[in-house]
Amino acid sequence: MGDVVNGRKLFMKLCVTCHTTEKGGKHKIGPNLHDIMGKTSGTIPGYSSSKAMKESAIVWNEKNLSGYIDYPKKFIPGTSMVFKGVKKSEDRRDIIAFLATLK
Ligand code: HEC
Repeated sequence: MGDVVNGRKLFMKLCVTCHTTEKGGKHKIGPNLHDIMGKTSGTIPGYSSSKAMKESAIVWNEKNLSGYIDYPKKFIPGTSMVFKGVKKSEDRRDIIAFLATLK
């Protein structure tokens, strides 16, 4: 099980410059990530996703989120998320545990 408290801390450090998490939160450089678990990639209303993100049409489960935040450009070539990735698998696990609480 991921550590939600650590995941929130990591999110605040690594992701919050580009993403909000509250319900109805505004889009920044990246889309609002409220309730992201189970969504299909590139379908967040009001955000103009890259063609690559829309065409990949993957469902955000633990495995896909981990692959994406590990190495965004490799997991979805052409994604507009300019982020080097979270290399430690425990860190990814904790961030995903936090994302899963955003309901
Ligand atoms: C420099 C800005 C930036 C940072 C930092 C960043 N992102 Fe993103 N993120 C983006 C952009 C831009 C997109 C839209 C990508 C696209 O459409 O190809 C995105 C898309 C996403 C998506 C896919 C949403 C969808 O369209 O379905 C997820 C999930 C995501 N980011 C999670 C994260 C997490 C978790 C972190 C921190 C570990 C993070 N991002 C850090 C800019 C960023």
